[in-house]
Amino acid sequence: MSTFRLALVGFGNIGSGLVKHIIEKKDLLAQRAGVPIELTWIADKEFEKPRGVTPPTSAKLTTNWREAVTAANVDAVVELVGVGADGKPTLAADIARAALSAGKHFITANKGLIAAHGGELHELAAKNGVLLLFEASVGAGIPIISSLQTGLAPDRITAIHGIVNGTCNYILTQLDSDSSLTMQKAIADAQALGYAEPDPRFDVEGNDTAYKLVILASLAFGQELSVDDVSLDGITKLGPEEGAYAKANGLAVKLLASAAQLADGSASLVVGPAFIPATHVLAGVRDVFNAVLVEADPIGQTMYFGRGAGQGSTGSGLLADAIFAAKLQKAGSPDPQPLRIPRGMRKPADPNAVEHRFYIRVRTEGDSAKADQAAALIGGRKIGPGGATQAFLVERISLSALDKLLGKLSAAGFPDGAICKVRFALGTT
Ligand code: HSE
Repeated sequence: MSTFRLALVGFGNIGSGLVKHIIEKKDLLAQRAGVPIELTWIADKEFEKPRGVTPPTSAKLTTNWREAVTAANVDAVVELVGVGADGKPTLAADIARAALSAGKHFITANKGLIAAHGGELHELAAKNGVLLLFEASVGAGIPIISSLQTGLAPDRITAIHGIVNGTCNYILTQLDSDSSLTMQKAIADAQALGYAEPDPRFDVEGNDTAYKLVILASLAFGQELSVDDVSLDGITKLGPEEGAYAKANGLAVKLLASAAQLADGSASLVVGPAFIPATHVLAGVRDVFNAVLVEADPIGQTMYFGRGAGQGSTGSGLLADAIFAAKLQKAGSPDPQPLRIPRGMRKPADPNAVEHRFYIRVRTEGDSAKADQAAALIGGRKIGPGGATQAFLVERISLSALDKLLGKLSAAGFPDGAICKVRFALGTT
């Protein structure tokens, strides 16, 4: 093998960053991989739009992804097409199946793809003697996937807590430092900076975080978990009230992804806004930065931190995978795949068995009868004098009881969009 040859499918913002990285760090990459890394194909829907980088002359351009993916002069396919408008990774899954079946290593940043098809694709990769690699799918270039697969391989992982959506963390940081800023303006800023998904609802409603948590927990707990197993909430209902409550009580508000393996081996997965101590190390993770805290036995706590989105970080994650594949291919390793997502093994926790302390705020429009009605339904302790909204503390409630409570509030005329709930986590319970 004289070069390690890549086909890139998807020449957008992240793809063009990857091409720049390959050109600018050519010598370093060759030294680290043991062979030069060469781009032999680039596939995209069109090549008219300026990308800010000229593809190297080694790369043939095509609008037919199958031609690139199955070409003889390709060792690995890098897929960066994302998910469709319906949020489903249909095209990415077709590309992955075609690449792996053609005996090409498959490298992706696509969390939607791995969260939905990780088990199937790992099986297909193993059958074809190639690698499925997805470091950039969680935390961009932060080496959390390889840490779970290799560095933490001797340890039993019991819990994971992560801030894994750069857009939401950026928005929450902006709102925290400027209380006059609106959520809409903060989202528009995150889009302009290139952090947000094409449809930013996937960020702010928590789906992107849920995909990433599913990938981490599936690897960590040896199960093929699904987004359907995640108790999911986003940041759209947070308001200045939560910021004020956090400040007054020495807390910070984060979109927190938490996974825990319960005593019976089942996995509890929760994504949603959380109050954490302002002094906790995760509270200091600001702007687009991500961090994942892993609790494992016997190593204890370890933490992984860095830029969780953007060209530079994602390109780094993708090329770390390319270097890993190139080295193993060069060594002729017969069974190179590290820790896999095992197909069909899935044990989500019983939502009756998972309890948290919650803050719940409802809109009462200053109507004291409505506030009394909410108090009777929620049964928690009132916080503050009320006004247009009223917040309550609910000491312990199971996730299933919480769902039922939200249903009752909605039936009583409190619209879902106006109910804000925040979990207490990381020592605030
Ligand atoms: N929209 C994602 C984020 C991109 O903001 O984290 C990286 O997965």
